[in-house]
Amino acid sequence: MTLKNISPIETPAWKNLKNHFAEIKNNKIIDFFKDTKRLSHFSVSWKNFYVDFSKNRLNLKTLNLLLDLAKQCDLQNSIQAQFLGKKINKTENRSVLHTACRCIDSDKILVDGIDIVPEIINERNKIKSFCDKVLDGHITGSTGKKITDVVNIGIGGSDLGPRMVTEALKFYRSRLNTHFISNVDGDHVYEVLKALNPETTLFIVVSKTFTTQETLTNAKTIKNWMISNLGNKSIEHHFIAVSSNKNEIANFGIKDEYTFSMNDWVGGRFSIWSSVGLIISLSIGFENYNKFLNGARLADDHFRSSSFEKNIPVLMGLISVWYNNFFECESEAVISYSQYLNKLPAYLQQSLMESNGKNVDRNGKNVKYQTGNIVWGDTGTNSQHAFFQLIHQGTKLIPCDFIGFKHPLHKENHQHDILMSNFFAQTEALLMGKSLTKVEDELKRKSQSKEFAPFKVFKGNIPSNSFLIDKLSPESLGSLIAFYEHKIFVQGIIWNVFSYDQWGVELGKELASSILREIETKTLENHDPSTSSLVHLYNSKN
Ligand code: F6P
Repeated sequence: MTLKNISPIETPAWKNLKNHFAEIKNNKIIDFFKDTKRLSHFSVSWKNFYVDFSKNRLNLKTLNLLLDLAKQCDLQNSIQAQFLGKKINKTENRSVLHTACRCIDSDKILVDGIDIVPEIINERNKIKSFCDKVLDGHITGSTGKKITDVVNIGIGGSDLGPRMVTEALKFYRSRLNTHFISNVDGDHVYEVLKALNPETTLFIVVSKTFTTQETLTNAKTIKNWMISNLGNKSIEHHFIAVSSNKNEIANFGIKDEYTFSMNDWVGGRFSIWSSVGLIISLSIGFENYNKFLNGARLADDHFRSSSFEKNIPVLMGLISVWYNNFFECESEAVISYSQYLNKLPAYLQQSLMESNGKNVDRNGKNVKYQTGNIVWGDTGTNSQHAFFQLIHQGTKLIPCDFIGFKHPLHKENHQHDILMSNFFAQTEALLMGKSLTKVEDELKRKSQSKEFAPFKVFKGNIPSNSFLIDKLSPESLGSLIAFYEHKIFVQGIIWNVFSYDQWGVELGKELASSILREIETKTLENHDPSTSSLVHLYNSKN
C-alpha cells in the first residue's frame, strides 16, 4: 500500500469546484450565515478545543465538493498508509512515522516487519531517567556541580520545534535554563557562551545526520571552549548527542549513555516527538513532556477516526487548498493571542513550506497548479500594530488562523479579557469590514468632511479560522501541533506531492561548501558574474 498518484486537477471534484468557485467567489461570508445551521456545520468541538471554520468564503456545497476532492484523491487510504508505516516518503524510501513516537506500550507499529514500539518506549524511558537524574542533581558537570543550564545545538527541525515548545511551555518550567544555538554565526555562539558557566552547563548536539555544517561547526567551537575551560575530560560530562549517526557521535567524544537515537522514519521537521524533544523534557520535566506527546496522540486518533466533515486537520487542509488553488491566495497568516506562542510561525514555516513547497508531482512531472503556500505571522496584539493594515486594507487576500485560550496561565486577570477581545474583534472586523455608507454616516455625525471617507473603508469578507482552546498546556499544545502536521499531510495528498523529502535545500548547501573552499584558499572558481564579484570583494577584504 503506497500513495496513489492522482492529479487533483483531473478529478471531477476539481472541475466542479472550479465551476462552483465562479458562482460564489464574490459572495459575502456574512450572507452565508442566512443558513441558520452554519455555525454547527462549520465548527468542531473536540476535547478542550473549539474550532470555528464558519468565517470562511465557502458554503455547504463548497464543503461537500472539497470532501469529494479528498475522496477522489484517496485521502482516507493515504492516512492509513502513513500510520501503518508504509514507505510513503518514496524519494527517500522511508516510512513517515513521527506519529509512532506518540505511541503507548500496547501499540504495534511495523517497519520492514519489525515492531518499532519497544524501541520507542525504551528511548522514552532513557529520556525519563536522564532528565530525572539531571533535575535531581545525580547527573552533574565534570567538577561535580549541579547542572543549571542546557544548550540545544541544532538547526531546522533539530532546533525550531524544541525552541518553540520550550518557549510555549515556559510556564511549566523546571529549574533549568534553556538556550538555543542554531545559526553558524560565531557572534551568536560567543554571545550565548558569555553568559554560561561551563561547570554547570550541558550541551545537546542535535542532528539527525550529524553532518550538518552549522551544527557541527557550532558544536566544535563549543567543544574547544569547554576544553579550554575544563580540559579534555570534561567533554563526556557536558556533551549529549541526539542523532542517528552513531559513528560520528563516538568520534566527537560523546559517551553511549549520553547518546539518544533518531530513526530514519522520523523526518527532521517532525522530529520534535523523538529524542529531539530531550530539551523539552529537561525544561518542563518528563511528566509534562509525556502529556505533550499524549496531546498529539489524541489528535492522531481524531485525525484517523473522525468523519472528514468534522475532522479538524482535514478541514484545515481542504480550506487551505480552496484558498490556495481557487482564490489564488499566496499566503496564510497564523496569529496566536498568547505571547508564549511567539515562535509558532517560524516553526510552522519549516514544517509547512519545507514539506509542500514542491513543483514536481508524485509522477516526477511539473505540476500545473499551485502547491505549498507561504506561512507567516506573529502574536496578537503585536501584529495588529504591525502588518494587520495590509490584511485589512491591502490588495491581497490573506486567510488567517487565530489561536487563543479561554484561560490565562497565571491567575485569571482582566488583561486576558482585553487580549481575547482583540482576537474576537479582529476576526469580526475581517469578516464584516466597514462600508463607505457607514463611514460617511459616522463622519456626518461628527460633522467632518467626507473627503477622507474612502481611506477609512474596510472591504471585509476576509476569511479566518478561530481556534479557541481552554488553556495552553503541554497536552493542548501537543494536539495543536499535531493538527498542523496533519493539515500538511492533507494538503500534500491533494496536491499529489511528496511532502516528506526536502531536496530543495541541497543545492545551496553544495554551493556554500565550494565557495567556502574558495574563501579559505583565496581562489575564485567559475560563477555567474554577480556571485564572482561578491566572492572577489569578500576575498579582498583587509
Ligand atoms: O534544512 C534541511 C534539513 O535537512 C532539515 O530538514 C532538517 O531539519 C535540518 O536540515 C537539520 O538536519 P540535521 O538534523 O540532520 O542536522
